Amino acid sequence: AMDISTLRAKTGLVTYDGGFVNTAACKSAITFIDGEEGVLRYRGYPIEQIAEQGTFLETAYLLIYGELPSVSALDNFRDEITQHTLLHEDVKRFYDGFPRDAHPMAMLSSVVSALSTFYQDSHNPFDEEQVRLSAIRLLAKLPTIAAYAFKKSVGQPMLYPDNSLGYVENFLRMTFAVPAESYKADPVVVDALDKLLILHGDHEQNCSTSTVRLVGSSQANMFASISAGINALWGPLHGGANQQVLEMLEQIKNDGGDIDAFVNKVKNKEDGVRLMGFGHRVYKSRDPRATIIKKAADDVLSRMGKKDELLDLAMQLEERALADDYFVERKLYPNVDFYTGLIYRAMGFPTEMFTVLFAIGRLPGWIAHWQEMIADPKAKIGRPRQVYTGVALRDYTPIGAR
Ligand code: ACO
Repeated sequence: AMDISTLRAKTGLVTYDGGFVNTAACKSAITFIDGEEGVLRYRGYPIEQIAEQGTFLETAYLLIYGELPSVSALDNFRDEITQHTLLHEDVKRFYDGFPRDAHPMAMLSSVVSALSTFYQDSHNPFDEEQVRLSAIRLLAKLPTIAAYAFKKSVGQPMLYPDNSLGYVENFLRMTFAVPAESYKADPVVVDALDKLLILHGDHEQNCSTSTVRLVGSSQANMFASISAGINALWGPLHGGANQQVLEMLEQIKNDGGDIDAFVNKVKNKEDGVRLMGFGHRVYKSRDPRATIIKKAADDVLSRMGKKDELLDLAMQLEERALADDYFVERKLYPNVDFYTGLIYRAMGFPTEMFTVLFAIGRLPGWIAHWQEMIADPKAKIGRPRQVYTGVALRDYTPIGAR
């Protein structure tokens, strides 16, 4: 068989695939998706089993190192992460410079990028010990960075991490506790958030992960590459959809809760209205994460004693859509974002923080992909071709003659 670059040199042909709908840019052993069947596995383990039995840190270990950790390996991993949760005092000064109403995703990517100025030993991607340490630092510090972004937006003092607490508990405390008042995270919330982070852990070559790989393919350091991934995630077509689901549900409620009227609007494509949280580029059957999250939403909200009108509305809407030919014919099912916003809202997060939570969950996936690429001796710099559509050739007109 002829390799692709020989083929191009001989024929002048390139493959045009806008949006990379059908182009594999790498080989990967991290995550398997079967979009037709609604299957998602991390390192071969079904997402349902991981979400049921695992924790987020175990999942992070699995994604990054390829195997489930032993008890002692997990202890060491957790201890090391715990020891790195603190931010350098000078990092905190970045937040002073941001406007009060800065979007937390912008703060997140800026501060992660700035970490490479504090850890200058980390710049060589082939220094295995430094790479390992960069991964630990990112996992440890991202929740602190995220909580500080929230604190900045509400004008409250930033709290130091408490290393006696677990990963999620520590994040919740740094986010929601205020000095001089006692705070204890609700265990129901801790469990639910841990599970949501697991479900966001990796999703193979999505936009942000592909971005991390593309930036990293130039051998830029891990902090720089992942900062770029955070920016990619920020966009409304990627990490931003859960906010839109909430806004849609609120709109339906304010319009009197008429689900039929809304569904008809969607079917008639009035004003381009879509059923937000439905449909997916890869899944043409149920998004397996949505199934798990739906149950979690029901559990969490009832265990927190929150009767949520919007949850009832979401469930009715789902049922109504799944029984309708429009959605059946187009294979439109609820995706991961359909229920997450409701849970985050019940936990007390403002909508701008939703995508930040997604980023904390996706971090192990970004790290795993960056490391997998760097470890591949055959990895090349990412450099797509194009189909040129401009003017073929013309003579330059001197400025005085224009
Ligand atoms: N509501 C109504 N109709 C829809 C929806 C929807 N949510 N999604 C797709 N359709 C229709 C389209 O109008 C189109 O119909 P047509 O053939 O009559 O023109 C058909 O289904 C195919 O849709 P495409 O837009 O071609 O599908 P694509 O794979 O490009 O888009 C996407 C996938 C962007 C997720 C889309 O389904 C959508 O916009 N969903 C709502 C937004 C959303 O929930 N995004 C989050 C995705 S999950 C994530 O990123 C974490």
